[in-house]
Amino acid sequence: MHKTIETDVLIIGNGGAGLRAAIEASKANLEVMIVGRTLPGKAHTTMAEGGINAALGNRDPTDSIDEHFRDTVVEGGFLNDQRLVEILVNEVPERVYDLEDFGAVFDRTLDGKIAQRPFGGQSHPRTCYVGDETGHEMIMALTEEVRRRDLPHMDEVIVTRLLTVGKRCVGAFGIDMKSGDYLVFRAKATVLATGGGGRVYKVTSNPEEATGDGYSMAYEIGAELMDMEQVQFHPTGMIFPESAKGILVTEAVRGEGGLLKNIEGERFMARYNPSQMELSPRDVVARSIYSELQAGRGTPRGGVYLDISYKESDQILKKLPRMVKQFRNFADLDITKEPMEVAPTAHHFMGGVRIRVEDNRSTTVEGLYLAGEAEAGVHGGNRLGGNALAETQVFGARAGMFAAKFARMSTKPGVDRGQVEDEAGRLDSLLREGSKPQELRERIREMMWQYVGIVRDREKLHFALGEIERFRVELSQIGVGGGKKYNPEWYDAIVLPHMLATCEAIIRSALTREESRGAHFRSDFPKRDDDKWFVNVNVRKGSGGEMEVFTTPIVTTKLNPTTRSGGPSGRENYQIPRLQVRPRP
Ligand code: FUM
Repeated sequence: MHKTIETDVLIIGNGGAGLRAAIEASKANLEVMIVGRTLPGKAHTTMAEGGINAALGNRDPTDSIDEHFRDTVVEGGFLNDQRLVEILVNEVPERVYDLEDFGAVFDRTLDGKIAQRPFGGQSHPRTCYVGDETGHEMIMALTEEVRRRDLPHMDEVIVTRLLTVGKRCVGAFGIDMKSGDYLVFRAKATVLATGGGGRVYKVTSNPEEATGDGYSMAYEIGAELMDMEQVQFHPTGMIFPESAKGILVTEAVRGEGGLLKNIEGERFMARYNPSQMELSPRDVVARSIYSELQAGRGTPRGGVYLDISYKESDQILKKLPRMVKQFRNFADLDITKEPMEVAPTAHHFMGGVRIRVEDNRSTTVEGLYLAGEAEAGVHGGNRLGGNALAETQVFGARAGMFAAKFARMSTKPGVDRGQVEDEAGRLDSLLREGSKPQELRERIREMMWQYVGIVRDREKLHFALGEIERFRVELSQIGVGGGKKYNPEWYDAIVLPHMLATCEAIIRSALTREESRGAHFRSDFPKRDDDKWFVNVNVRKGSGGEMEVFTTPIVTTKLNPTTRSGGPSGRENYQIPRLQVRPRP
């Protein structure tokens, strides 16, 4: 038995991208339904603490939209789809102003403009912020706007599969966690804004729900996944106590002057990137910390120091209130007096579902639209801190708009009863005696951390692939007790296949890319190879059910690594028009 819910535009995900998509879709006067696995405030958006990038030029008038474009592509290892980057940098200023209109209160400069801080890998301070709680403020404002518009939403619904008729996505199947009821969402257009998959790693900043479901569900119905090897390890996560391991220590700490030191008290970034030091791109800082730890210069707990305590304590309290509380509450440590201890944590997937930029963000599956971390192409091989929140707003709005356009032109689809019955049967069958899903889940996460982490090689990746096959065999033994209402063990069992599909996509893509670019570092191929690997690596489901890997050319519009002259980055050949953002008091 199931309940059927009909809507024009179904939005799966209630984080920053999903809420923004819903707001935009609702402007077309269509029915919208937002479905979220948690309450909105728990989305990973709130973990992007340090800010949102927009070239407003408030702190540095020499910043420009084109500089934002250039930083994003250069630090992305040129893997980005530059059409998406152009959209991102051009539209994000307006989306920041939208957030203000929805009620977000950004910190201000002395002359009353939106304040901006430096972030890693950026040529100008352009990260707009609300202390170190920017994502939280954004979610609050977006939620308020959703309420103001009276948009229907169902929280605590776990979507377990997408539904299709032919090659068209016609909605989704899910469970209302509160009642245990099965739900069939019948929709003209579906926006997938399910976030990333950091939880496939043992150490992560991501919430429980980030198990890669969106990638796997889209893949299962024929969508292609791109750049899945590109997993961002944020350089600074907490390392103690064990229960807090992986929790984000915002880049804003370094943006506000935090210094990274090893056990010998040395500012070790001087060894790896003396020009940018602590504000090097994330991939560089994460690998530098990894190297320090490998060289035995880490703390006894296995981290390095991050020290902001030399700054005035009232400044720290004002700019980094969340960090002050986080360390006091979890680690009993006063960051205004003592250094923090940090180490890398799996944070963001640059890869995801491949979208057809030329065709208004649709995918290879008709009626399926993407927003936020679930999509690929914007960040290339390494995302700039502050560009994730930007992506949620720019591409959330676009996904909502294009999904609404598609819905407007479409008839209400039917659903395939066979798919619904199969999925209900699969979920029912997990409620039986069997081995515990949590045990397998933790082994998957440990394996990914050990073998598919910051530094990879062919041997490790082959082993990892073999482990995935072995884990898949174990899936048939899984069973959970209890009933259908609020049964977290059941949800763990339900998402295990999604986790494994996500892991397989990462491993196969990482094995294929025999070079080092962006966050993907192969110790057996430590250099970037533009001659051979200036391509995106993709996967799709083959006709026999196997995962097929294929490459596609990278789309460039302005910057090309092969045109660079002398320097390492391609910056030299790029002309920079000045800022054209609408001024705002
Ligand atoms: O460090 C941070 O505050 C995270 C920001 C981001 O991932 O964009």
